[in-house]
Amino acid sequence: MKEGTVKTNLRINLGPREISVLRKSAIPLLYGPNSECLKSTWYGQTGNDPKKCSIHMTRDFNAHRLRRRAWDKGFSIKALGTYEPRIKPKADLFRDQLLAHSGTPFDVSTWAMYFSFDVMGEVGFGKDFNNLGTGVEHSAIKGVHSHMTMLDKQKKLQHLLDQAMPGGYSEWSYEKTKSVSYVDDFLSETLRLRPALLTGGARETPAKGLRIDEVYIPGNTNVVIPTQLIQRDVRWWQQPEDFLPERFGEKKAEMETDKAPYIPFSLGKLIISPMRAYACPGKNLAQLSLRTSLSMIAQNFDVTFAAGETGEAFDKEVLDTFTVTLPPLQLQFTLRGGN
Ligand code: HEM
Repeated sequence: MKEGTVKTNLRINLGPREISVLRKSAIPLLYGPNSECLKSTWYGQTGNDPKKCSIHMTRDFNAHRLRRRAWDKGFSIKALGTYEPRIKPKADLFRDQLLAHSGTPFDVSTWAMYFSFDVMGEVGFGKDFNNLGTGVEHSAIKGVHSHMTMLDKQKKLQHLLDQAMPGGYSEWSYEKTKSVSYVDDFLSETLRLRPALLTGGARETPAKGLRIDEVYIPGNTNVVIPTQLIQRDVRWWQQPEDFLPERFGEKKAEMETDKAPYIPFSLGKLIISPMRAYACPGKNLAQLSLRTSLSMIAQNFDVTFAAGETGEAFDKEVLDTFTVTLPPLQLQFTLRGGN
């Protein structure tokens, strides 16, 4: 798929009425707040009755808009303040497990998933899945499911967090964590190389069709932008395969990051009404929980590959199952001095 797309530089036909476009100009047309496209037929696989499907699979524009209001209210900055104190204990529980496994291989794919689902259970469902406590995936989550030149970046992250919180983890606060912009740069770069959706959500073109630059795409055609490919495309990204958080920080202007296509949470405004955008409403919560867990790990532990782990399977054997399914990744967490 990668080669085909890169060669034509424009689009490849994935099937009848189905096209993949690797063009920056296509992003606002498909995903932007003023897009005339709707969710594609892919989202109709559980039926098109909005009363019987999740918000994500809702194709009916008005039904989606009404449901989305509640989501945006639930993830507003004001609401987020009430979640902060409920997420820290989850980070602490994660830390306990890292400590208990200190010096031995630790499957980060699984445990990072436990953390994020425990956060979602706590905040979204008022239910403690306690994946982190039990070390076993809760049956409700199982039903839904079926990160080293890194070392110098890690040291830099630790150094900046240590500067903000010289007393170590006991001084941790979300406000202090937020003040360390490298945390965000680190997360942004991770989501560039490893977006949760490798291929973005497909959209259906309006009946009159859609023009992307010189290309006319007929009406009622499903079109998708492959997120991971466009976020690693050499036309817009320098050293696209390298993990360089600095491209979102001090090297932003030099590396022209603001001009590059970056859509890990899709595009559009969080408050969409009356516009047509289906961007991730969970972005603020995702950032809150990622900043919390990343800072907890970096303050407390030095992270390396476990013996026998190369990271290759983690890189190559990822499954594109709408949201990505990660293979195991065995890492070793060694407690840093002073924590
Ligand atoms: C790093 C974490 C996350 C990433 C990268 C991410 C990414 C995305 C993307 C790309 C979409 C658009 C999908 C499409 O066009 O079909 C999306 C939609 C959505 N996300 Fe997230 N997401 C994250 C975390 C969350 C969290 C924590 C929640 C809720 C607790 C959430 C809830 C949703 C919902 C409900 C939709 C559907 C929105 C709609 O159709 O209007 N996401 N997400």
